[in-house]
Amino acid sequence: MNRLETNFLGMVFKNPMVTSSGCFGFGLEYKDYFDPNELGGIVVKGITLEPRDGNYGTRIAETPGGMLNCVGLENPGVEYFENVILKDMRASGITSPIIININGKVIDEYVELAKRVEKMDEVDMIELNISCPNVKDGGMAFGSNPDVAGAVTKAVREVTTKPLIVKLSPNVTDIVKIAKIVEENGADAVSLINTLLGMAIDIKGRKPVLGNTFGGFSGPAVKPVALRMVYQVSQSVKIPVVGMGGISSTEDALEFMMAGATMVSLGTGLFSNPILPVEIKNGLEKFCIENNIDNISEIVGAAHKRG
Ligand SMILES: Cc1cc2nc3c(=O)[nH]c(=O)nc-3n(C[C@H](O)[C@H](O)[C@H](O)COP(=O)(O)O)c2cc1C
Repeated sequence: MNRLETNFLGMVFKNPMVTSSGCFGFGLEYKDYFDPNELGGIVVKGITLEPRDGNYGTRIAETPGGMLNCVGLENPGVEYFENVILKDMRASGITSPIIININGKVIDEYVELAKRVEKMDEVDMIELNISCPNVKDGGMAFGSNPDVAGAVTKAVREVTTKPLIVKLSPNVTDIVKIAKIVEENGADAVSLINTLLGMAIDIKGRKPVLGNTFGGFSGPAVKPVALRMVYQVSQSVKIPVVGMGGISSTEDALEFMMAGATMVSLGTGLFSNPILPVEIKNGLEKFCIENNIDNISEIVGAAHKRG
């Protein structure tokens, strides 16, 4: 019996673990550490219509319990992804579901990308990253404005039949409001959280450390914030939640599931411990056996207040 088998958006995942976009490349990069098929599924690096070089200058800064990054969505573009990377992934034996993370500067770019992905049989699901700056909204992220978050979700929903996961930004006052709007506009699931906006200053140089001044804050230090948001969102929407933000142990994964996440996603934790998925998989199995749990889904939302 596989106690970790999880049904998610009409597909059977061998376990509830996926990788977080931008933290696992395209899966093949970690092949020397473990077989990517040990994962429930793989969420690939954020893809844009055109190739992107990303940001210049320093892109990574370590912080206590986490890190800042301003990679700036460096990626080879959708054409190369489709013709080379996706083929390599499958040719190298990856059979786990593949989820593409798509990004745009305007709604039309998301739509264009989604139309192309619709024709890619090898891609199982779409994750819509709405933390990107919207050039038509003064650079404010799509995910920070409820109307825009709803509009981009609706526009993509109209052009794809693939399961659609909308990835929420934590840089908002009311994440529940955004989650409900994307649900109303056709999201099949939500994933959260993306990185928190942060910065570091080089006191000798008297200037920001990161080339882009600000960066995304991730890692164990963000876990309490992410967990709180997963707990709130999962009680407010009917669609499933993919929980992430600082997961670096079996206990962390269990907390996210008890907070209401159907699936958990591993990101920054992979940088300091590349075999984290294998450890968590073994840890979840052990937890199930020790607690007489036939299927891990039984604990989803276990910490919600009842009555
Ligand atoms: C180096 C780096 C690159 C990332 N790139 C992306 C990306 O391309 N698209 C996206 O939606 N999220 C991206 N993220 C956000 C992660 O997928 C994840 O949501 C976030 O880091 C929180 O989880 P964690 O604390 O476990 O890393 C990136 C994060 C890091 C650290």
